[in-house]
Amino acid sequence: MKLILNQKVLETSESPSFHTLDFLRKIGIKGVKEGCHEGDCGACLVLIGELKDDRVKYKAMNSCILPLGKIEGKHVVTIEGLNLEEKLNPVQQALFEEGGVQCGYCTPGFVIALMAYFMNEDLENTEIITAIEGNICRCTGYNSILRAAEIASKKISTLDDSKGRITALIEANYLPSYFSKIIKQLKEIKTQPQLKKGTFVAGGTDLFVNRQTVENPIFLAELGFDKIWSDENHVYIGAAADIETIRTSAELNALFDTAKHLARVSSLPIRQQATIGGNVVNASPIGDLTIYFLALDAEIGLVLGEDKRIMKLKDFFKGYKILDLKDGEILEWSRIRKEKKLLSFEKVAKRMYMDIASVNSALSLRIEDKKIKEPHLSAGGVGPIPMYLEKASQFLENKEISSEVIKEAARIADTEISPIDDVRGSAKYKRLLLRQLIYAHFVELFPELEMSL
Ligand SMILES: Cc1cc2nc3c(=O)[nH]c(=O)nc-3n(C[C@H](O)[C@H](O)[C@H](O)COP(=O)(O)OP(=O)(O)OC[C@H]3O[C@@H](n4cnc5c(N)ncnc54)[C@H](O)[C@@H]3O)c2cc1C
Ligand code: FES
Ligand code: FES
Repeated sequence: MKLILNQKVLETSESPSFHTLDFLRKIGIKGVKEGCHEGDCGACLVLIGELKDDRVKYKAMNSCILPLGKIEGKHVVTIEGLNLEEKLNPVQQALFEEGGVQCGYCTPGFVIALMAYFMNEDLENTEIITAIEGNICRCTGYNSILRAAEIASKKISTLDDSKGRITALIEANYLPSYFSKIIKQLKEIKTQPQLKKGTFVAGGTDLFVNRQTVENPIFLAELGFDKIWSDENHVYIGAAADIETIRTSAELNALFDTAKHLARVSSLPIRQQATIGGNVVNASPIGDLTIYFLALDAEIGLVLGEDKRIMKLKDFFKGYKILDLKDGEILEWSRIRKEKKLLSFEKVAKRMYMDIASVNSALSLRIEDKKIKEPHLSAGGVGPIPMYLEKASQFLENKEISSEVIKEAARIADTEISPIDDVRGSAKYKRLLLRQLIYAHFVELFPELEMSL
């Protein structure tokens, strides 16, 4: 397979399942570091540039959980590929001046994450801290790193972007000039056809953690299904759409506060890689996207050759990691009704950001004549599957909101769940968490109501 590594076109016969981090270090690229090998620390970040609409779009990705097959025909940039000949770039310079570096182990990852932000983002509308939410530094302290990021941001925001951000960075000598040739080189690279039989890989963030690998990967993004679209009645989310695309989707944010809700899912690099399809098919009882879309009463579309079928998402889960999914069948899309509803998503994790949930829950409903209509309540981490709480949802239908009604809904929900003791908490604690999250939904959705819960 072929790719561009920094300024060189490279051909390799390594397996498409080989982890990019291990590949890069094997061929002597030492600027990319190994910390956790789980996607948690950001030491291994690389920039991946992909041709989209006749321009190259770069994003920072965790190379430790990125199989080589996902970067075929793309531009891979390590810290070596960002270095200028005679000076530091503005991010490196600011980190140096602000004391943002001690041992330096995390530094290439921070530089890559910040450069990804400067190469793409709308500097006025996006908080820079989001760009480095997937980076951990064990010795410097984050204040100096953030200060450096803000100084670099002030410098770069004065550039004239009229010919595009990347051209502006090259002209200011903030990016090496070879970046201007990448678009032509990417157009010339031919990629190999996908296998017919094998394991579906979407983002690979579940499949490739901890050096896990798969035989005969079939990369779903290359087959399409990574878009969000709508018709008169539904919004469709392609199964290979990544979580950041979903979080920032105009279609979804017109209906709900999706940008805020899904900011609690992992970090920016993981959100840009992980997909909704992977979240659903992985069937983790605490999958955030699954819990979110269960509460929106989503339907899913499945395809196997010529055969297509549609079912409710809640009917897809049959037991712990047991799904109504045939061998070789692909989840093609999820869809929700195109209607405004009140929606609350709550998640308790050991850390506020960058962590999987101990318990998560979502609730959607409408209010008509002061009564609750079409309530759908879901919860994760409280049973063997992502749970749709059928009885509590039915109980809420047509009720007027009161403290008693909410308490009774929480009591019924408690009879539907079967949490277990594990590292994320005792069964008793998880029961208590779910009760509090149900209360939190109502406090969030109806702050004006006086409720004593
Ligand atoms: C550091 C880190 C942080 C994380 N934080 C969170 C978090 O906060 N919340 C959360 O919910 N999850 C989190 N995860 C888990 C993971 O990112 C999500 O579950 C993600 O949505 C999985 O999607 P993927 O595309 O990477 O799946 P993959 O790893 O590509 O696939 C997962 C499974 O689904 C199958 N599959 C994928 N797509 C399809 C399809 N369309 N049809 C049929 N089968 C398919 C694959 O064969 C595989 O069995 C985290 C993971 C990491 C590494
Ligand atoms: S090594 Fe820690 S995120 Fe990759
Ligand atoms: S400078 Fe040492 S880990 Fe960040």
